[in-house]
Amino acid sequence: MCGIVAYIGNRDAYPILIKGLHRLEYRGYDSAGICLLNEQLTIYKCKGKVSDLEHYVKAKNMAGHLGMAHTRWATHGEPNQVNAHPHYSQNKKLAIIHNGIIENYAPLRSELISRGYSFVSETDTEVLIHLIEDIMTNESVDLVEALRIALNQVIGAYAIVILSKDNPDMILAARKGSPMVIGIGKDEFFIASDATPIVEYTNNVVYMDDEEIAIIQKEKELKIITITNKRKTPYIEKLEISLNALEKEGFDHFMLKEIYEQPRSIRDSMRGRLHLDKGLVILGGIREYEQKLMNARRIIITACGTSWHAGLVGEYLIEELARIPVEVEYSSEFRYRNPVLSEEDVVIAISQSGETADTLAAIELAKSKGATVLGICNVVGSSIARATHAGVYTHAGPEIGVASTKAFTAQVAVLTLLALQIAQKKGTIPQSRFHQMLSELNVIPEKVEQTLAINEQIKKIANIYKDVKNSLYLGRGYNFPVALEGALKLKEISYIHAEGYPAAEMKHGPIALIDEYMPVVVIATRKGTYEKVISNIQEVKARKGKIIAIINTGDKTVQGLADHCIEIPETEEFLNPLLATIPLQLLSYHIAVMRNCNVDQPRNLAKSVTVE
Ligand code: M6R
Repeated sequence: MCGIVAYIGNRDAYPILIKGLHRLEYRGYDSAGICLLNEQLTIYKCKGKVSDLEHYVKAKNMAGHLGMAHTRWATHGEPNQVNAHPHYSQNKKLAIIHNGIIENYAPLRSELISRGYSFVSETDTEVLIHLIEDIMTNESVDLVEALRIALNQVIGAYAIVILSKDNPDMILAARKGSPMVIGIGKDEFFIASDATPIVEYTNNVVYMDDEEIAIIQKEKELKIITITNKRKTPYIEKLEISLNALEKEGFDHFMLKEIYEQPRSIRDSMRGRLHLDKGLVILGGIREYEQKLMNARRIIITACGTSWHAGLVGEYLIEELARIPVEVEYSSEFRYRNPVLSEEDVVIAISQSGETADTLAAIELAKSKGATVLGICNVVGSSIARATHAGVYTHAGPEIGVASTKAFTAQVAVLTLLALQIAQKKGTIPQSRFHQMLSELNVIPEKVEQTLAINEQIKKIANIYKDVKNSLYLGRGYNFPVALEGALKLKEISYIHAEGYPAAEMKHGPIALIDEYMPVVVIATRKGTYEKVISNIQEVKARKGKIIAIINTGDKTVQGLADHCIEIPETEEFLNPLLATIPLQLLSYHIAVMRNCNVDQPRNLAKSVTVE
């Protein structure tokens, strides 16, 4: 969602800010703005893309060594120039950019109006900057103290940056529930909502904690206080993102690049964890919680979107291999339904971004009820990684395409390792069988590589179906979550209506939709319920539906039934999602490209959903 970037130092701020905004585009936004401090606080903003902003400021004086910029994903007020950030205070001596939502903005706004403030925008953000000005004026305190007092009055989530005309060598930043990273260079600082705008300047970063205020002054040490006025020592960490990971590297889109990265990203997710020689799986991040997991009465997996689909695969894996009951919950439902939880339960929160507001809230709820909460996150240092008791990083590398691809397979790889680790400790799988399973998991990256070779064939199929209005995705067992994920990918980026269903459920309703115009994607890999899925294919064919089948290499039976077959290598049933997902990602990608859709930044979507 919204993105923040700010700079203070000796370089020209504008190029750093614009480049930073481009790096943050993947998060999703609908307007952009910039503020430079050069004697005056000058704000430029516009609806649309960062490139529109660049165009708008082309002939303007953009000098200044201190500034901030923002991409806005509208919540309060439509996406237009007025509502775009930054916002001035009434006296124009302060300016603010903000990610998050001020929940009590309405009473604060009424109060400020009664005190003579007028608002130009409909945003909750403008309330905050007027409130700070009001506190400075009426309580005769400095800006830092006014900010601290104001933050004690607001309810909600925020990551904010404030510039002040009267403090030309200072930037203030604060966070609660919305991420903020400070990059530390030599005599300069970079502030951003994630590390992507910072990585090319410095590897030294401080991840701010909730309810902290950073006082960032040129050529001075970074100072952090809490909103209760306690001094904190900044904890400097090393960034491990490579700059290449943020570039398309010759691919047309980040999504395609990320699909092709999967042999590597799955391998990286298993590196140092799968020890084939010793016949062991060791997830170091949750070592302390191994006993807790083994003895868990129940495991509850909570997540949203694609991560929820990975959670469903996790349910099948953990129940089958480790014999522990698992429930998979949408975080958005879990957080509001007063679930029964106890200290014997282990909750696993899965999130690529590590910033999803609903998942964060579900974690807090689970912790408040005494459950142990573990995280599976991709973004190092993210809020979810920090809010959980312990966790495992997926190591997929930065995922820039809004449609999640490599993060999903990395999550599934980690869940597979987790299930195997518990199974081994509990002795639910004989050692010889365990060894076979590890060996097959170990060669999955090569099989993903082989699977990617079907790209050209998929392109042809995409060309046939690119104009359909509806589609159905069917799978059973481990392939059911794959069907859900395939359908989600198609609707997200091509805007074609797609439904994922357990194949056997089709006859309980969706079968009514089948006619000669309805493509049905069926994951029909051998093993498990293969024979039953063949019956489902026949039911579709009997009603003239078109079948696109994902099959194992050389499967003549399904080839005799389906309109199109996409062959993938054979593997163990429990590893099927790691291969069967790939053709569905490619199919969605090619259809979206052929429909001229914005593949990497689909309409209305945000990469990290930091509002509920
Ligand atoms: O960052 P998270 O994994 O917590 O995000 C959850 C969903 O918002 C995300 O998976 C979303 O569904 C993606 N756009 C899927 O491609």
